[in-house]
Amino acid sequence: MTLATPVLRTARLRLRPFTYADADVLFALHSSTHVMRYWDSAPWSDQARAKRFIAICQKVAEEGTGARVAIDRASDGAFVGWCGLTEWNPDYRSASLGYCLDDAMWGHGYATEAAHALLQWAFDTLDLNRVQAETDTRNAASARVLEKIGFVREGTLREDCVVNGEVSDTWVFGLIGREWRRSAKPTPAR
Ligand SMILES: CC(C)(COP(=O)(O)OP(=O)(O)OC[C@H]1O[C@@H](n2cnc3c(N)ncnc32)[C@H](O)[C@@H]1OP(=O)(O)O)[C@@H](O)C(=O)NCCC(=O)NCCS
Repeated sequence: MTLATPVLRTARLRLRPFTYADADVLFALHSSTHVMRYWDSAPWSDQARAKRFIAICQKVAEEGTGARVAIDRASDGAFVGWCGLTEWNPDYRSASLGYCLDDAMWGHGYATEAAHALLQWAFDTLDLNRVQAETDTRNAASARVLEKIGFVREGTLREDCVVNGEVSDTWVFGLIGREWRRSAKPTPAR
């Protein structure tokens, strides 16, 4: 069953499906050692990875297992990054949240605004009950984004990742539908 990737608008952002025209900015994002310093895999060094990522976004939509959206700044159309809900499991009514923003765009609340809008769409559309997110325990900004949205830190996966020989721990966060409905305010749209 396909799941059309949505176009969503917030006060400052536009969330939309990726196209192959995004390949260069996507490669720049994922090849940055600074942006990827807490990622669970090494920065990209091969430009072809960007096209593969976009093809996977389209496959996720075709197979109906989630939605990964590019994020643009509404005021000028600048590429901000991406946010995605994947591993949608209709039996468990669960999915996983992830995001990655260009470092020039950090510190403005954009990750929180984008993730909130995508979750609002997902809770409204998919009858979700649980969303899981995982983050490197050193990634304080990502943990803060999740806490601001209402996720609860549920545990630590010790020595979960090894990237370029560096071993790191992972925090698991979870958000349950009833908690979301209690706390979520509608995303301001334009
Ligand atoms: C993590 C990331 C998405 C945050 O994006 P962002 O748009 O800057 O996030 P927001 O502005 O919405 O919120 C960040 C929060 O973290 C806080 N923060 C930032 N750096 C921090 C730090 N070093 N220690 C503690 N808090 C920090 C900010 O103050 C803000 O909280 P506040 O609103 O209470 O002040 C962004 O840094 C990113 O894309 N990083 C690279 C990819 C990545 O690590 N993705 C997550 C993988 S799980």
